[in-house]
Amino acid sequence: MYSLKELQDLIHKEIKGLRTGDEPKGLYEPIHYVLSLGGKRIRPALCLLAFQLFSKKKPGKDVIYPAIGLEVFHNFTLLHDDVMDAADIRRGMPTVHKKWNDNTAILSGDAMMIKAYQYVSMCPEKDMAEVMETFNDLALGVCEGQQYDMDFETRNDVTAEEYIEMIRLKTSVLIAGSLKIGAIIGSASKKDKNLIYEFGENIGIAFQLQDDYLDVYGDPAVFGKNIGGDIVNNKKTFLLLQALGKAKGRVKAELDKWIENRDADAQEKIDAVRGIYDNLGIPSLSQTLMKEYFDKSINALLSIDADEKIKEDLRQFAINLIDRAS
Ligand code: IPE
Ligand code: IPE
Ligand code: MG
Ligand code: MG
Ligand code: MG
Repeated sequence: MYSLKELQDLIHKEIKGLRTGDEPKGLYEPIHYVLSLGGKRIRPALCLLAFQLFSKKKPGKDVIYPAIGLEVFHNFTLLHDDVMDAADIRRGMPTVHKKWNDNTAILSGDAMMIKAYQYVSMCPEKDMAEVMETFNDLALGVCEGQQYDMDFETRNDVTAEEYIEMIRLKTSVLIAGSLKIGAIIGSASKKDKNLIYEFGENIGIAFQLQDDYLDVYGDPAVFGKNIGGDIVNNKKTFLLLQALGKAKGRVKAELDKWIENRDADAQEKIDAVRGIYDNLGIPSLSQTLMKEYFDKSINALLSIDADEKIKEDLRQFAINLIDRAS
């Protein structure tokens, strides 16, 4: 069994050695660029931790490659997401569509999705059908979540329930699916596969709540993305939904004005909306909700019938996911 540190080193080494192709350079260079910028590599780590939770064997290529495929898939979603969100900075560096252009982000992203399928399908033959079904479900789920995310930008009647469902789709299903794929290859029981998925769904929601919080309150140097992009884009985050629900009178009118003003100066809008959040005590509401989903995730984890020590590793990993600043 590998420690988390050993697993992370292994993932790092595999991604460094990953060869997608050389020509045409316009297709492959952006792929190598985004993969070389690092990132937390959460999804392959979760996949391999889940495998180790159920299998006595050391992870071999037939689980390491699928885990890498999940990271490549995640990076593909980032290329397209940054076009959709008009985001200029990722992992502290220019996004692919900024460094190259939108068409490059689209096509290199497409190629990465295909590469992801190649890697995930290197799972054991006996698990192929279940792994591919899980992967197809998560891939389509991300698309559905991303569409809701975009639809919500121009809607002003989004409910908290709709928001949670949107982030479950765009973020949690990939995290939960990564865990489940590790569990499938590790020969977990049906019950435990469902429990590890439930762990992932809830920790994924907590993780996206923290991402939305950091988008407003993070340190750009550590977070690696521009701060305030969600405010500029009128993303219906839990923060904004709560503010819309709680603001009264003059404050509500001011918030509505910022949302309607398409030509607002970005920094002025960010500062003003953040000020409204602060005055309404919104950050602590978001932290409370995050804790609720964190607790739900841990309850599911603790119900799994597996090695207590590895469950503890996963619990620590989950704590780091919500305590993070990057
Ligand atoms: C960013 O994911 C997209 C979200 C789901 C919030 P990560 O925060 O895992 O990004 P990297 O891979 O570490 O850069
Ligand atoms: C992430 O949502 C969802 C996907 C990338 C699928 P965000 O748009 O909040 O992610 P970041 O903040 O750009 O990483
Ligand atoms: Mg984004
Ligand atoms: Mg987005
Ligand atoms: Mg974000």
